[in-house]
Amino acid sequence: MALHRSTTMSVRLALVAIASLFITVECSQEIMKNLSMNFAKPLEDCKKEMDLPDSVTTDFYNFWKEGYEFTNRQTGCAILCLSSKLELLDQELKLHHGKAQEFAQKHGADEAMAKQLVDLIHGCTQSTPDVAADPCMKALNVAMCSKTKVHELNWAPSVELIVGEVLAEV
Ligand SMILES: *[C@@H]1O[C@H](CO)[C@@H](O)[C@H](O)[C@H]1NC(C)=O
Repeated sequence: MALHRSTTMSVRLALVAIASLFITVECSQEIMKNLSMNFAKPLEDCKKEMDLPDSVTTDFYNFWKEGYEFTNRQTGCAILCLSSKLELLDQELKLHHGKAQEFAQKHGADEAMAKQLVDLIHGCTQSTPDVAADPCMKALNVAMCSKTKVHELNWAPSVELIVGEVLAEV
């Protein structure tokens, strides 16, 4: 009888644990969506200033789509332009850790999540080779690497989530 009760308890606890895991993941996806939307806000300005093609917008729309690869160098330039507008870069065009963490926290991430994201991007910056001193290609490769890692964490927002938000804003 007692055994039976404790089994029921553990099952219940396991269910609660699974449920909160789902909620955490969903919450992280919501925050990642928020971060992406805010990051991409100055995209039109960057496109105009740098005379970037519409294929860059397509890459941004599909950014979180699993398996979507962007190879367009100009998308890397756009990422650099956005980061610099949001003052997320240091003089070497590398991610400024303090400012990036601040940006993430301002848009909904808690301290732990913000730190994890910054570490993740930093790790990708280290592991991605510099491409013939081309900062745009470097930014593109770091973005691709970071995207993969975010997918591994299950933090990537679903494309439906993003498209829904974009449609709501139009
Ligand atoms: C999204 O970011 C805004 C600030 O830009 C913040 O007020 C809001 O709470 C964030 N939403 C989520 C789900 O974190």
